[in-house]
Amino acid sequence: MGKPKVVLGVSGGIAAYKACELLRRLTESGHDVRVVPTASSLNFVGEATWAALSGNPASTEVWETVHEVPHVRIGQGADLVVVAPATADMLAKAAHGLADDLLTNTLLTARCPVVFAPAMHTEMWEHPATQENVATLRRRGAVVIEPAVGRLTGKDTGKGRLPDPEEIFEVCRQVLRRGVAAPDLAGRHVVISAGGTREPLDPVRFLGNRSSGKQGYALARTAVARGARVTLVAANTALADPAGVDVVRVGTAVQLREAVLKAASDADVVVMAAAVADFRPAEYAGGKIKKKDGEDPAPVALVRNPDVLAEISADRAREGQVVVGFAAETDDVLDNGRAKLRRKGCDLLVVNEVGETRTFGSEENEAIILSSDGSEMPVPYGPKEVLAEAVWDQVTRRYMPRRA
Ligand code: CTP
Repeated sequence: MGKPKVVLGVSGGIAAYKACELLRRLTESGHDVRVVPTASSLNFVGEATWAALSGNPASTEVWETVHEVPHVRIGQGADLVVVAPATADMLAKAAHGLADDLLTNTLLTARCPVVFAPAMHTEMWEHPATQENVATLRRRGAVVIEPAVGRLTGKDTGKGRLPDPEEIFEVCRQVLRRGVAAPDLAGRHVVISAGGTREPLDPVRFLGNRSSGKQGYALARTAVARGARVTLVAANTALADPAGVDVVRVGTAVQLREAVLKAASDADVVVMAAAVADFRPAEYAGGKIKKKDGEDPAPVALVRNPDVLAEISADRAREGQVVVGFAAETDDVLDNGRAKLRRKGCDLLVVNEVGETRTFGSEENEAIILSSDGSEMPVPYGPKEVLAEAVWDQVTRRYMPRRA
């Protein structure tokens, strides 16, 4: 099999310079990349840069090398087209099927998945014209990554930033892996909790757990590639924000509950991948707890935390909302998992065996997905994104049709 063929479309925004890094990641990971810049984007990054970094010619017009019919051939031969940055003008052209240069022609002839990574000023992004164009593109099956919030071209900040190139690359990787499968979470809002809560004892100490958040982040990344709007409630993670994901940071179980309930009010799916502390110290010492010579330490009194998964399952914010839980078990994995599924009242429970070095912090996972309809699906040991895809497969196949 040859290298996957990727077309990198670059439209005329200042973020074009970030596309150089995306191109590097794509070529270094074994993709054959053809860059198709718009004429205006060459004001930001020149043709020579694209040609040198990709090892392929970079042309903007259909009139160059006409005998090769590039406006048809490039699109037809691609396994993925990614437009980064995509300006408001480019989104409008793509939504309306205009074809006045090589990139827009390529978009019309491509039959492979298409990813747009928009970047523009907040006002332009929020304008109804842009929002309608984005909705049109998504309805037709394109993955349009939500811009990030942060510093824009000048001194202003807001929504409209191009996400980090390595995170756009991650979306491309996931979309390429899925091939021509339709983005089956398009139009859905999914809420995912990730990481592990920390319950403070005093200003310097807490009760915590070993969860890294990697499984929750893998769920978020794969959901973006399947077209979902994603809210990620992240508890104490040290991972980069995935592209296109609204990340809400929390510390304790109580904060996590609040953030998840808020986001879940209009969610189609809620996945509780976070390791939530069942107990918290009954009292928080405002100053550092000191040891006293000759005295035994005072026992730490604990109180129960709310069970977020059970609460969401029992009181669904909207009809047909799908709720997924995770269960980390060390013994009697399946029996405990089945009992937990019933007790929590969720639709799916992903059960995995954990130990000090098993699962926590690693890139791999192995699990059984239990469903409230009685089915049990083992997912063999493999990357956390494979388990994430299996979870979305179960959600979409078993539970989504009822809200289709
Ligand atoms: N969970 C939650 N709120 C809690 C504790 C857990 O929402 N206070 C969720 C987790 O996010 C996970 C699921 O419940 O999706 C199962 O977590 P787990 O720790 O395995 O279950 P527990 O209810 O804590 O059961 P036990 O500790 O008795 O095994």
